[in-house]
Amino acid sequence: MKGVILAGGTGTRMHPLTRITNKHLLPIYDRPMVTYAVEAMVTAGLDQIMVVTGGTHAGEFFRLLGNGHDYGVEQLFYAYQERPGGIAEALGLAERFVGGDRVLVMLADNIVERSIRPLVERFAAQERGARIVLAPVADPEHLRNLGVPELDGEGRVIRIVEKPAEPPSGYAVTGLYFYDPSVFEVLPTLRPSGRGELEITDVNNWFIERGTMELDVLEGFWGDAGESIDAYYEVNDFVRALRRRG
Ligand code: DAU
Repeated sequence: MKGVILAGGTGTRMHPLTRITNKHLLPIYDRPMVTYAVEAMVTAGLDQIMVVTGGTHAGEFFRLLGNGHDYGVEQLFYAYQERPGGIAEALGLAERFVGGDRVLVMLADNIVERSIRPLVERFAAQERGARIVLAPVADPEHLRNLGVPELDGEGRVIRIVEKPAEPPSGYAVTGLYFYDPSVFEVLPTLRPSGRGELEITDVNNWFIERGTMELDVLEGFWGDAGESIDAYYEVNDFVRALRRRG
């Protein structure tokens, strides 16, 4: 299984900080944000990873991550997204890297507490299709900034609604997505959303409609450090407390 870390976009919700750097280079406690996604993948056993980034600070990712060996990555690849056309567009840049393999996609502003290795193992055992990872979120205000699943009585997902005014459940769809190679057939069929982006939620709904979407519910802390400046500090506070406890 290959790993793709998405670290492009404009980070407008974090202006003016993101006028002078890429959001994923901002610190979470004592290290740059993107390194948490790298570590999550490496500890899950993935050793071929592509980082997709863009904008005017792409070179800083080379300075930080280099060939990846210091982080335990066997082979680290990079792709450059010309304009922030959406998460699904950014994933499209990794098509040749992924080849006919399966892929774990992780948004570089997502921070997880526990190892994601069990999730990787469950997707490896899944026959085909895709797998999303949910996290319980109590505050509906948070959910309005995220993708939210509508679930049936048996815990299967009926559809995902992106940034819903009325969240259909108390779960967020986290920025961890597993796909088989058919995802690269879906991407060319997408149309830009109201915000002019190719949405990962449309990709996920495609798999749901075909009955090939499975899900996991994450245990432990999950945060989207790019959701807002307050969310950024919530994630920082959590990681700092965790590290200090050792
Ligand atoms: O964090 C989880 C949420 O991430 C999900 O619940 C949502 O369903 C999903 O759409 C996404 O929502 P965000 O509003 O957080 O997406 P955002 O535009 O902030 O992009 C998330 C990351 O994806 C960003 O940190 C870098 C990467 N990205 C984004 C865009 C728009 C790219 O690499 N290229 C892009 O063009």
